[in-house]
Amino acid sequence: MTTAATQSTALLEPIARKLAAAYAPIESELAQAELVFQAELGSRFPFVQHLVDHCADFQGKRLRPALVLLSGRACGNITPSHPVLAAVVEMIHTATLVHDDILDEALVRRHAATVNAEWGNETAVLLGDYLFTHAFHLASSLESTLACRWIGHATNMVCEGEMQQVHNRGNLDLDERAYMEIIRGKTAELTAVSCRLGAQYAGASAATVDSLERYGRELGVAFQIADDVLDLWGDERSSGKSLGTDLEKQKLTLPIIHLLSVSTSEKATRFRRILAEGESQTRRLLRPELEQAGSLDYAWRRAEESVAEAVRCLEVLADSPSKTVLRHLAEYTLRRAS
Ligand code: IPE
Ligand code: IPE
Ligand code: MG
Ligand code: MG
Repeated sequence: MTTAATQSTALLEPIARKLAAAYAPIESELAQAELVFQAELGSRFPFVQHLVDHCADFQGKRLRPALVLLSGRACGNITPSHPVLAAVVEMIHTATLVHDDILDEALVRRHAATVNAEWGNETAVLLGDYLFTHAFHLASSLESTLACRWIGHATNMVCEGEMQQVHNRGNLDLDERAYMEIIRGKTAELTAVSCRLGAQYAGASAATVDSLERYGRELGVAFQIADDVLDLWGDERSSGKSLGTDLEKQKLTLPIIHLLSVSTSEKATRFRRILAEGESQTRRLLRPELEQAGSLDYAWRRAEESVAEAVRCLEVLADSPSKTVLRHLAEYTLRRAS
């Protein structure tokens, strides 16, 4: 564990540096959100605290809290509610990851062992629940019930998206429309509500709040398409998480959906047979086919379209360093390796 932790710190350094520069306008509020996150989750039971410490030790990119805070700063003033909201959305996100790793039987997350791999599925189910309940407990500490309602709704959508995905496991006829619906739910709802909350609590107009929400939604769609490409072509060492699980679990993603739709029926039948076997070789077998059929390019184009739309949604904002970072974050979704 010590060796893995040491390696992970070294691997995370370039990402942390890159994002640290991007997060400069909200550095102190992000640190505050971190404190709120840890204070909320503290437990008198050493085992529970140990699990919470695991989440605090192996942090991700903190994209969603950054979206709350940057949206707030870009729209007006950051208030004392903002770091609380930032901690809440990160808690929801962490809960979904802990549960998602059970579903995907993933072994590695954030350059460390997953909770399910280290402590088993039962503990992972309960830690995910603990994170969800604390997120809403924390959100209810705010004066108005608005955040609870919005976050509750977004989390419902995230769960629906994950349930739709599980339901469609092994559905080799999944089409692009259904895929987009799934990723809008499981990923884009949370990035959308993060931006919406940031703008709303900064006192932005209704129109600006809506634009920021659309920005977050489009960013989320691009982020998940890029993630699905990463699942096929990425490197586990630099991404710090188990890859290839989409195919192993027969979850069809955009490049595969495109490949099946442009192939001759003979080829499509062969690809479906390979997919149905769900073996570890599937990635290696399908990658050249995906490249040749233009499916990789197609997925990138769809992601680029979402990024372009996200950037357009920022036009309602006056120029500011935070607005620039929001634009860069949308563009970064296409370049990330983790
Ligand atoms: C992973 O999200 C789950 C997806 C929506 C693809 P992140 O890539 O933001 O995960 P962390 O928080 O950085 O680990
Ligand atoms: C799940 O998508 C994202 C969630 C909303 C939980 P993935 O299964 O692709 O996420 P990773 O690749 O495991 O991070
Ligand atoms: Mg997963
Ligand atoms: Mg993935």
